[in-house]
Amino acid sequence: MAQPERSANLGEVNHSVQIRERQGEDELNQVVNLLVETGLVIPEKIVEARIDARMYPVLVAVKDGQVVGCIFVGPKLGISVFYFAVTEEDRRQGIGTKLVYSAEDRLRSAGNGRCVLEVKKGDPGLFKFYGNIGYKQVDQQQSRMIKVL
Ligand SMILES: CC(C)(COP(=O)(O)OP(=O)(O)OC[C@H]1O[C@@H](n2cnc3c(N)ncnc32)[C@H](O)[C@@H]1OP(=O)(O)O)[C@@H](O)C(=O)NCCC(=O)NCCS
Repeated sequence: MAQPERSANLGEVNHSVQIRERQGEDELNQVVNLLVETGLVIPEKIVEARIDARMYPVLVAVKDGQVVGCIFVGPKLGISVFYFAVTEEDRRQGIGTKLVYSAEDRLRSAGNGRCVLEVKKGDPGLFKFYGNIGYKQVDQQQSRMIKVL
């Protein structure tokens, strides 16, 4: 099977994918559906996620008019970025990395000196993913990682 197009520079996503701020209700619905599909939001927490999507900036990756990735930008309770996901079929094309970098740019512009995140339990590969883009584990027992911006 053909591999998806991928830029040599991880920060640059396939040109058909745009990273920008969420717009409108339809995209809010797509973001929440993505979070439910990827298991980051359980059905009981959908209302809370919808409130967060209105309270915090949400960056989305859009391909062919559809949301294929999202990241919420805090800080919320000391966490700088949260609800970070890419649809299964669009992974490994640099979209996730680009979303994190865009969130970092936004945090930096708002005067934040560091980005703090909480790594989802049950996927040890995520520590490697974040480590590759400059995050350090606070300590071995904790799922929190930090990057100086
Ligand atoms: C984490 C996530 C957003 C990454 O999105 P993505 O678009 O695939 O990320 P990238 O393409 O920028 O990944 C860059 C590299 O990290 C690797 N990587 C990404 N997620 C990984 C994981 N969970 N475990 C191991 N490696 C991972 C990719 O394979 C890629 O490496 P490669 O160059 O060898 O292909 C996506 O896997 C996802 O939505 N996961 C489910 C939700 C989730 O766990 N969110 C994070 C909560 S803390």
